[in-house]
Amino acid sequence: MGSDSKRVLGIESSCDETAVAIYDTVEGLIAHRVYSQIELHREWGGVVPELASRDHIRKIIPLIQQVLGDAHCDKSKIDAIAYTKGPGLIGALMVGAAVGCALAYAWGVPAIGIHHLEAHLMAVMLEERKPEFPFVALLVSGGHTLLIEVRGLEQYRVLGETLDDAAGEAFDKTAKLLGLPYPGGPALAELAKQGRSGRFVFPRPMIHRKNLDFSFSGLKTHVLNVYQQQEKHDMQLKADMAYAFQEAVVETLLIKCRKALEATGLNRLVVVGGVGANQALRTALSERVNAAVFYPRQEFCTDNGAMVAYTGALRFGKTQQNQVIVVDLDCHW
Ligand code: KG4
Ligand code: ZN
Repeated sequence: MGSDSKRVLGIESSCDETAVAIYDTVEGLIAHRVYSQIELHREWGGVVPELASRDHIRKIIPLIQQVLGDAHCDKSKIDAIAYTKGPGLIGALMVGAAVGCALAYAWGVPAIGIHHLEAHLMAVMLEERKPEFPFVALLVSGGHTLLIEVRGLEQYRVLGETLDDAAGEAFDKTAKLLGLPYPGGPALAELAKQGRSGRFVFPRPMIHRKNLDFSFSGLKTHVLNVYQQQEKHDMQLKADMAYAFQEAVVETLLIKCRKALEATGLNRLVVVGGVGANQALRTALSERVNAAVFYPRQEFCTDNGAMVAYTGALRFGKTQQNQVIVVDLDCHW
């Protein structure tokens, strides 16, 4: 470890992943683990907030111990603790925030509350191939769909956002309708591989509007109506519908990204958040957008501790020590 390096322990617990990482400002990411609650929530078909909070409580301390062990790092080497302060499920956030702030107090280091969306945005900076500022970012997760002009750290301008469902939420709800298991997004993407092009063509919402906002709830309802009109609900029907749904979402995101690049005059596009792991989206953007496109590796598209530790390291020394407000209920940009 370099003499002037700083080590930040990052904690993420905003939804259904308990995740911990250590980022060193000289050595980079030195350890990270994600414990996913997928199995716990599967039988309910979605995230049950109370179960999520309880599972975070069970997993968080062992996970911190494991990550410290992986990094061969004693707690005395940690210079700050970063935790997700919001947005997210309140009970789930409280677990990470309470543990993060308590450890920071006990170890005599600053606690740094991190905005979950900013952490997603910064995840791309953990890659070898990373963008320079400025860039346009498409943030597509289970809770958010945003186009953001990013001029630098803390220089964010929201260009457009969803008026109703987030892209990931639309994937999840459509997957549920097709009888796919939770989490729906990856399951629907997998099924779409068996789907045939052209049997269904679904609407691309709001692509003719001048603004950069999105709306996905109408598309979801459209899929429901078409599904109910079919006589036979076999696997090929479901695969063809999954294909058409994914195609509609991808085309919509692609068109809006092009418009955002045009409006800002920028030529770099960053794609982050859980839906950023979608291969059809990656292929469409890489091949059909007139810009250099950057992504975090797949495992850093979905929730993880590395992005929190890294964003904490960027904020080190610029933040209030041991904050009084641990969870930010309004958590706007
Ligand atoms: O960023 P994330 O882990 O959590 C939030 O902050 O919301 O994103 C989770 C979302 C879920 O809606 C999930 O279905 C979606 O990302 N997702 C995908 C894929 N992998 C994850 N959606 C489509 N295709 C995928 N391969
Ligand atoms: Zn997230």
